[in-house]
Amino acid sequence: MEETHNIMPRHIAIIMDGNGRWAQQRGLERVYGHQAGTEAVRRAVEACAKANVQYLTLYAFSTENWNRPKSEVDALMHLLVKALHDEVPKLMKNQVRLNAIGAMEDLPQACQDEFRSAIAETSRNTGLTLTIALSYSGRNEWVRAAKKVFDDVACHKVTKDDICETYLNSKMDTAQMPDPDILIRTGGECRISNFLLWQLAYTELFFLPVMWPDFKGDHLREVISQFQSRERRFGKTSEQVTPR
Ligand code: FPP
Repeated sequence: MEETHNIMPRHIAIIMDGNGRWAQQRGLERVYGHQAGTEAVRRAVEACAKANVQYLTLYAFSTENWNRPKSEVDALMHLLVKALHDEVPKLMKNQVRLNAIGAMEDLPQACQDEFRSAIAETSRNTGLTLTIALSYSGRNEWVRAAKKVFDDVACHKVTKDDICETYLNSKMDTAQMPDPDILIRTGGECRISNFLLWQLAYTELFFLPVMWPDFKGDHLREVISQFQSRERRFGKTSEQVTPR
């Protein structure tokens, strides 16, 4: 019989892919897919909160997404501002703490302001930490981290001997979070697309054919159940992690 570990994931990260195709399959403009995607965000947040997951990190806009047509970028920014504005009361009610990672300074001012205010308002909540990755990419995070290291060296806070994994982790956008236990990518593609390159070292990967707007709580629960039947060895042997 297959052994299950019933360990709950602390941190789930999601690449929300398939909005555009979902809309196009219905003869709609892509922006309707993003709109429907915000409903799926709500369902994913609720399912994570119910399952007592502590961290949910969503890839909402990559540094590469700036290269999309201006009309789509503008519509996405508008949607993000509106979704945040509408959702804050619900985040408060459900004790969800909002957080953002990425090169936030690249976002339109209205978007930065909305995020800053929602993050401040929810900062004392004690439930799920919902992190939105915006103007984010793993390589860009590395570049920004390297600049922080340079600053520390320049003002003699650290020497070469201080550089270790723990120190470098403290320079990442996700310094305050555990690494993801689970990465889900919807939309049927099997790639990481520059997401959390440092943090995904030992993450369990799940690629689902479902388009993001069709993502439901049951998809999340099924992934968690599959995760619980996987053996995570972190480089050790099976006997070491599951003594028989
Ligand atoms: C990828 O699908 C999705 C995005 C680039 C945007 C995701 C944004 C949302 C779901 C909007 C709301 C977010 C929050 C946090 C409120 P795609 O457009 O690449 O789809 P395709 O691969 O089918 O073209």
